[in-house]
Order: sequence, then C-alpha cells, then structure tokens
Amino acid sequence: MDRSFSLLALLSLLVGIGLGSLHSGSAATTTTGTPDGSELWGYVEVRPKAHLFWWYYKSPQRTSTPTKPWPTVLWLQGGPGASGVGLGNFQEIGPLDVNLQPRNSTWLQKADLIFVCRYSVTGQPGGRRVQLRGEQQPAGDDRLEQAADMTTVLKALVKEVPMLQSSPLLLVAESYGGKYAATLGVSVARAVRAGKLNITLGGVALGDSFISPEDFTLNAFRMVRLSYTPLFLSVSRLDDNAADEANKMAETVKEQIAVGNFSDAADSWNDLVVYFIPSRSGVVDMYNFLLDDGMDLLSADTPAGSSPNNVQALRYSTYLGSRDSNGSNTIGGIMNGVIKEKLKIIPKDLKWHELNHAVYNALDNDMMKPRIDEVDELLSYGVNVTVYNGQLDIICSTIGAETWVQKLKWDGLKTFLSLPRQSLYCGPRKETKAFVRSYKNLHFYWILGAGHFVPVDQPCIALSMIGNITQ
Ligand SMILES: *[C@@H]1O[C@H](CO)[C@@H](O)[C@H](O)[C@H]1NC(C)=O
Ligand SMILES: *[C@@H]1O[C@H](CO)[C@@H](O)[C@H](O)[C@H]1NC(C)=O
Ligand SMILES: *[C@@H]1O[C@H](CO)[C@@H](O)[C@H](O)[C@H]1NC(C)=O
Ligand SMILES: *[C@@H]1O[C@H](CO)[C@@H](O)[C@H](O)[C@H]1NC(C)=O
Ligand SMILES: *[C@@H]1O[C@H](CO)[C@@H](O)[C@H](O)[C@H]1NC(C)=O
Repeated sequence: MDRSFSLLALLSLLVGIGLGSLHSGSAATTTTGTPDGSELWGYVEVRPKAHLFWWYYKSPQRTSTPTKPWPTVLWLQGGPGASGVGLGNFQEIGPLDVNLQPRNSTWLQKADLIFVCRYSVTGQPGGRRVQLRGEQQPAGDDRLEQAADMTTVLKALVKEVPMLQSSPLLLVAESYGGKYAATLGVSVARAVRAGKLNITLGGVALGDSFISPEDFTLNAFRMVRLSYTPLFLSVSRLDDNAADEANKMAETVKEQIAVGNFSDAADSWNDLVVYFIPSRSGVVDMYNFLLDDGMDLLSADTPAGSSPNNVQALRYSTYLGSRDSNGSNTIGGIMNGVIKEKLKIIPKDLKWHELNHAVYNALDNDMMKPRIDEVDELLSYGVNVTVYNGQLDIICSTIGAETWVQKLKWDGLKTFLSLPRQSLYCGPRKETKAFVRSYKNLHFYWILGAGHFVPVDQPCIALSMIGNITQ
C-alpha cells in the first residue's frame, strides 16, 4: 500500500474519530478518591461498554501560579497492553513501591501524576476489543481507537480533575508506549488547536520508545551497518557466526516492513529477539546487555499456547517483578489485594494482570509500524518533544533512536545535530550521569548506566530530567 496515502487516510480518520467522540457529549464516568482529594480514580466509558480506568495523584509539593503552572505527567506504559496503573505506578515512578513504602525518587515531586489502564481487563479470546464488562466491540483500527479513547478520557478528566485545565500536560512514555504517545499527542494537539479540548499540551517524552522498529533492528548509521547484531558483537555477547545468521534474520524483518508485511515482520522480529539471540548469547537480557535475562517468573507465568509474541510481551511486563525488592509483596499480590480493596470500584470478578494479552495480540499488526511522521507533526506544532534513552538498552537501543531522529523532516534537525551535548550530573559526586542536547523544541537525553527501564535504573537523573522537561 502506498504509505503516504495510507497515512493521510489514517490521520483524517484519526481526527474524525477523535473529534467525533469529543462532540458526542460527555462520556459516562465513575469517580471517587481519597477524602482529602489528593488521589482521585475512576472509570470513563469511552465507547458503549468499554471502560478505561485512571488514577490521579496530586503532588504534595504542588505550587501553581499563572506564570508557573504546576505540570501533570500522564504515564503511558509499553507492552502493548501492560498496565501503567500497576507497573509504572508501583514499580517505576509512583509515590509508593510494591512494599507500599515511599519511593524517594517519585516523579510526584515534580508533577501531578496520572496512570491509565487502557484495557486492563480480561479480554475475550478471538475478540479484538477488550473491555471491562463483557460485551464485544466491533473490530477497528486499534491505534486510532486508542488515541480516540484516550482523548475521550482526557476530556472527562478535565471535568473530574479541575486542576488539569490550568496544568500543562506532559505525555511520558516507555517502550511501545512511545508509539502510543506520538499518536495520542497528535490527536490531542489537533483537538486543542481546533478548540475542542481545553488543556495545554506541555510536551511528549519518548523513553526507550519503539518509534521505528526497523531502525532498532537493522540500520545504516553513519555508513556503518548497525543493528542488534553489531551491538552484541561489540560487547562479546554474539560471535561472528551467530552474527551472520542474525543479520540475515534482521534483513528479513527489514524487507517485510518495506513491503508493508507488518504482521510477518513482527513474527520474524520475535524469532530474532525471543529465540535466536538468547540461544546464542548466553541468554542476554535484551533490556540491559550487561545482564543475563533473569526472567525466572516467566515460565511460571506463560499461559499455555502463548505465541512467541506473547513471550516477548511477558518479558516486558514481568521484568521489574522479577527484580522486586526482598519484601514479601508482589505486584500481582497488591493489585489484586490491598490496592483493589482501597480502590473499591473494581468489579469483584476482575483480576489484574501485568499485561493484557488480548490487547497485545490486537496490536500485533501495529507493532512494527513506525511513528516518525507523528513526531514530525508534533515538532511542526511547536510541541516540546523529548527523546530519552538508556545506554545499556538493546531492544530499543540509543543508536536506533539516534537513527530515526535523523530521519525527521523537521527544519531544525540539521542545527540540532550539529550542536554539542551538555553533561548532566546527579547526586553529591560530579560524575557524568547523562548528556542532553536541545534545539528549539527537540530534546535528546542520553542516560548513562540505564537499560530499558530508565527511572528504575537511574532514578536520580531520571527525576532531574523530568524536572527539567516539566518546568
Ligand atoms: C533514595 O534512596 C536511595 C536508596 O536508599 C539512596 O541511595 C538515595 O540517596 C536516596 N535519594 C534521595 C534523593 O534521598
Ligand atoms: C480553558 O481553561 C482556562 C484555564 O483554566 C480557562 O481560563 C478558560 O476559561 C477555559 N476555556 C474554556 C473555553 O473552557
Ligand atoms: C518547551 O520547553 C522549554 C524548556 O523546558 C520551555 O521553556 C518552553 O516553554 C516549552 N514550550 C512549550 C511550547 O511548551
Ligand atoms: C508476507 O511474508 C510472508 C513470508 O514471510 C509471505 O508468505 C506472505 O505472503 C506475505 N504477505 C503479504 C501480504 O505480502
Ligand atoms: C535482596 O537480598 C539479597 C540477598 O540477601 C541482597 O543481595 C540484595 O541486595 C537485596 N535486594 C534489595 C533490593 O534489598
């Protein structure tokens, strides 16, 4: 299919659906919270019988003036289908950790936080849509429905969380969530520009995000062929023989993407990262090449009949669980126990899972599609776009991120690429923790010593970065 045509069609559809849902009056909501109003949560019915759950935290440090409004971060988890309400909140940036102890690096110090479970609920086998209370929705383009659904949620949230109207909203994403953030960012920016949504889009931040799968898998960076293979070769995790084979597999992925065979590209990519590379690398950790894959929980968690794709999804969603602290709590334990009790409105028969497989499968065809054009559109509107990437990540490597950034059509790109980087430090010692380069509304953070899960691996510099980009 001709790409520019299909994208145009997609984008007009996006606006159609996005604005259509905004015109269609108020979404049904259920909202409750703590008595002091510091936390609110609820469901928004985004389409008939399809509900999204959200959880808002007001920062104890909140100060707001008309010239310096307090920001809000909307966290978008990866997967696709992983639960931000559980994982991002309790394992990465929220006020409490899995043992319900305060997290001293919580991003709540710099912004109010919102977590959303897109489809955190049990799906119907074979059904493309997944919702809270059963009934199946017609199949559609999930990527567009996601953006439209989330725009509906934001519209409802502006009513339910009054602070949001005067608070710049920053979409911050991890992994696959970055593709979602780019699409949602465009949808929100358009709704705001059309006067349909009264919020300030403070920026979009893409952490170790799968914006251009092709560029992470195989690319030509500065005339040198780079991909997963040479990265692993250069750190001794693959040998030459395995590298040749891996390169062939990467070529296949690239060819399938080139002809728009996205679902097959996803399968080939999975063959490479789930089976081949682990088998020849001493089971390297794709999220941090200094480590072995420590997914002890994986085998226990893998449902019978899981496809290879599901295996990769499980790796993402259970990764932090396998590294939980030594306390007795597990993320599944608290989400289905004390947290469910606290939230009160979760239906009894609903069980929380790290990742919703039906969502993951529904987005199978989207997995390998790029989102570079959406980032370009955001840049053209003057929206602040931040790309941040962990040095030790392989699955969404820094070199891959640099490569897709170089493909932007944005007119500031040439100047951006020519500028020197600034070193960043954190903590008492003057030790380089990151580099940043900024020009106009594009910002790139190289986070040293972090793998895929930047706020977990380098909490100090991640917090300081979020302070910089929300100011
Ligand atoms: C947070 O706790 C960690 C581990 O206990 C400690 O190393 C770090 O210095 C603390 N950070 C702050 C900002 O207090
Ligand atoms: C939009 O929000 C601002 C800030 O809270 C408020 O002053 C303004 O009246 C709102 N506009 C509309 C059309 O609701
Ligand atoms: C973009 O970020 C910079 C630096 O944080 C800030 O000064 C500027 O106001 C932001 N621009 C927009 C349009 O949000
Ligand atoms: C996609 O590629 C596979 C081989 O990998 C091929 O069998 C299939 O026909 C292709 N599909 C399309 C729609 O091109
Ligand atoms: C967990 O326990 C092990 C072994 O006692 C220890 O090496 C590790 O540092 C502990 N981890 C945490 C997060 O406390």
